[in-house]
Amino acid sequence: MPQPIEDPSRILRTRFEAAITAAFPEIPGPVDPVITPSRQPRFGDFQCNAAMSLAKQLGKSPREVAAAIAARVDLADVAEPLTDASIAGPGFINITLRGEALAASVMAMDSPGTLSDLGVTRDENPTTVVVDLCGVNLAKSMHVGHVRSTVIPDAIARTLERLGHRVIRQSHVGDWGLPIAMVTTRLMDELQAGRVLAESVTLDRLERLYRSAQAECERDLKGLEAVRRHGLGPKIEAEVQAQVETATEKFAGARETLLRLQSHDPATVRTWRLIYDVTMDACLKTCARLHANVTAEHTAGESSYAEELGPLVEDLLARGIAEPDQGAIVVRAEGLEVPCLVRKSDGGFLYATTDLAAIRRRVRSLGASRIIYGVDIRQSLHFRQVFAAAVKAGYAALPGGGVARLEHAAFGTVLGSDGTPFKTRSGDTAKLSDLLEEAVARARRVVDERSASLHEEQRALIAEAVGIAAIKYMDLSTDRTKDYVFDFDRMLAFEGNTGPYLLYALVRTRSIFRKAAEEGKDGGWRGSTIVIGEPAEKSLALTLLRYGQVVESVAETLEPHRLCAYLIELAAAFGLFFDQCKVIHAPDDTTRRSRLRLCDLTGRVLADGLETLGIPTVDRM
Ligand code: ARG
Repeated sequence: MPQPIEDPSRILRTRFEAAITAAFPEIPGPVDPVITPSRQPRFGDFQCNAAMSLAKQLGKSPREVAAAIAARVDLADVAEPLTDASIAGPGFINITLRGEALAASVMAMDSPGTLSDLGVTRDENPTTVVVDLCGVNLAKSMHVGHVRSTVIPDAIARTLERLGHRVIRQSHVGDWGLPIAMVTTRLMDELQAGRVLAESVTLDRLERLYRSAQAECERDLKGLEAVRRHGLGPKIEAEVQAQVETATEKFAGARETLLRLQSHDPATVRTWRLIYDVTMDACLKTCARLHANVTAEHTAGESSYAEELGPLVEDLLARGIAEPDQGAIVVRAEGLEVPCLVRKSDGGFLYATTDLAAIRRRVRSLGASRIIYGVDIRQSLHFRQVFAAAVKAGYAALPGGGVARLEHAAFGTVLGSDGTPFKTRSGDTAKLSDLLEEAVARARRVVDERSASLHEEQRALIAEAVGIAAIKYMDLSTDRTKDYVFDFDRMLAFEGNTGPYLLYALVRTRSIFRKAAEEGKDGGWRGSTIVIGEPAEKSLALTLLRYGQVVESVAETLEPHRLCAYLIELAAAFGLFFDQCKVIHAPDDTTRRSRLRLCDLTGRVLADGLETLGIPTVDRM
């Protein structure tokens, strides 16, 4: 009975490592046996490529080294015996797995309810991870960039949850500070003048107020230029923008409003709350439509830290972590070319101050040992400053020793077809809710055409899933640090590297069962023996067995595009299998059952992968 292995490359690694140590005890361990999948099936399924580098260390010929390893490696239960012909070129060792061993592994990964469900092994030492996501700003509607800040970290959070970790999502909403106070002041004026009723305030109206408030902030350009010359980044720039404009009356008014907010003045707080509710209501609705797990309980806005900032800066000063600098307070840390500004000379706090308070709360109160920020790459300097300052201040120190892992999962910009940041035809930043609407409407046209026989309601549900899947997949499948071009036609194609293609592949794995049932051939496959014979079965099995490893790599690298690429490969391997191997009309019952089980397993891995990415699925289309 071959031993069930879940991931052949893993077991090959162990076996070859042991063989290398046995053959060359003089080499200090551990040695990487360099196991890679073969490029071409005729060379077998995997290769061990360690002989070349070992030969250099040992002063021997690589083929001689390869032969010594091949003679000692124990593969009887998993692979065909190695022969002279297994050693190729300068010393590659080609390995061909045995069908039974592969089949046993596939059956082992298909054991629901076990620790290793679908080959994904739950972490034995689950950790608490805070994932910072969404982070909208009050009085602004979500735009295309928020797909990224919501969808990427949500996929990362789901991946960590899939691996058994405890994830706490935190939406660091921009709901505090002078710009918000300005909008609050203006809205209070409007309400008082009776120009608008509280119950009819819309996000559009708030956005207009925000924009005119912002225009005022932008007046003193001279002071700003200095900041730009020092390259402090857009966030600080915006803040200093506020700093240089102390003179105007509006600013004075906003400052007073901020003070009234800080002292909980009921009328001011009520107006602020109205802005908050209108914004968050729209935001959470969009998140729900995006099939992203971001709800009210995840909101921890900047305002929730407001009272901690004064004492925090005092703490930093008292312990010599921060120091005065021309009236302001900064934290200098090794490796930081620009110090982290935590209090302005006028006494105001900054974006960075709030993020320091957030790290402290996340580590000390929420118990996080890892914090992941899904935020625009243009904020890289900010996060380097904040991380360095938090570590220096001891705010990231873990109770058991060591420091929390602080990671910026940075993403690039969404571009239009002209290569500049995506805008609507009229040149405005496109509203996310409109884009989702359009994606679904376009998907609807395709679904109406392709699935005309389905009920109206069903078609609406399918179009919703296809449209959202298209947008999310396009976002998740590009290397997150890169910019990408937002293109409805490309994302909605049913062929190629797209969300709809994956949904379609999933549906194919399911529709075969409906067809089998119609022919009375759907029985007996559950728990049946899997047989791996045909090359297409073998490559499907090999692809299936990689799933767990891919999920783990996403948790490690924070790169959901790896899972996207894997699912496309799996869909392709399934397509080939489907073309080349008869399922319902297989030559015999054992084969039919085995193939039905492979279809079912492929469908569950596709569905699990899509769910892990946060991409909605459908049963038919
Ligand atoms: N509100 C911020 C912005 O629009 C994003 C918040 C990101 N999270 C954080 N902890 N800084 O730029």
